[in-house]
Amino acid sequence: MSKALEGQGKTVLITGASAGIGKAFADVFATNGFDVVLVARRIEKLEEVASELESKHGISTRCIAADLAKSTSAKKIYDELKREGVTIDALVNNAGYAITKPFTEAKWKDHSDLMNVMVNSVTQLCYLFAKDMKANGYGRIINLSSVAAFSPQYGGNLYGATKAFVKDLSEALDLELKKHNVYCTALCPGFTRSEFHDVMGVSSAMDKLPKWIWMDAKTVANQGYRAVMRGDVRYVNGILNKSLVTAMGFLPGKVKYFLSEKQNVF
Ligand SMILES: NC(=O)c1ccc[n+]([C@@H]2O[C@H](COP(=O)([O-])OP(=O)(O)OC[C@H]3O[C@@H](n4cnc5c(N)ncnc54)[C@H](OP(=O)(O)O)[C@@H]3O)[C@@H](O)[C@H]2O)c1
Repeated sequence: MSKALEGQGKTVLITGASAGIGKAFADVFATNGFDVVLVARRIEKLEEVASELESKHGISTRCIAADLAKSTSAKKIYDELKREGVTIDALVNNAGYAITKPFTEAKWKDHSDLMNVMVNSVTQLCYLFAKDMKANGYGRIINLSSVAAFSPQYGGNLYGATKAFVKDLSEALDLELKKHNVYCTALCPGFTRSEFHDVMGVSSAMDKLPKWIWMDAKTVANQGYRAVMRGDVRYVNGILNKSLVTAMGFLPGKVKYFLSEKQNVF
């Protein structure tokens, strides 16, 4: 008799599942038997991902078009799934992007939208679903942070600050929830091939970076999946990024600040 898959009878909700790392996460969870709820703004992209996963893995899918920059979206998603009796066993807060304009030159609306997507929605989705996970005695949460969480960022303005928040939030949640069999992992990738840098409009600058610093989305998602299932509270993807983060841990704040001033790649 074949062994039951880890995710059989369980459902994962993944934000930002229409592209890049989120799309790769959908495939990893589906491979492990999870049904998937896919969230992003581009519904047609989500439907393409969903139909590919259904035929490849024979799982059930559901697509929800939502703009997480709207402060009402997280609760709407939660209420819709509750109404339909869908239990969420795993959550991947993955949707994200960055603004390249200097802080004082970007519009406030752009900063406010970014914080809604990368801070408020992440926190509210954790809040709503973690309560149910705790009551059910099972939950797995992956929050996408970044190596950018480990030092101040010049040229990436709010991005590093939101990723530091996500890292710290994930670690605090894990402390509270792990005794209920609800694990929370802050996943910290470095440069990863996806639509991320196209959306930022910096693809040509990124193409000048050496190939060996890049990881592919599938590897990042696979490592993230294994990390949360093991109960790792923080996982930095790849030897290069791990070495970088370890080295930064030894550097005094002033040195990190100085290096950040030199590192503006945009
Ligand atoms: N790529 C990297 O080098 C890298 C490194 C470290 C961390 N990360 C983090 O990894 C995560 C995934 O990034 P990625 O590289 O996979 O980027 P990506 O290919 O550009 O995908 C971003 C996803 O986020 C969704 N999204 C963006 N704004 C949204 C909004 N307002 N509402 C709902 N969904 C929204 C997009 O979907 P729609 O456009 O369809 O809404 C898309 O599915 C992000 O949190 C990013 O910060 C990336």
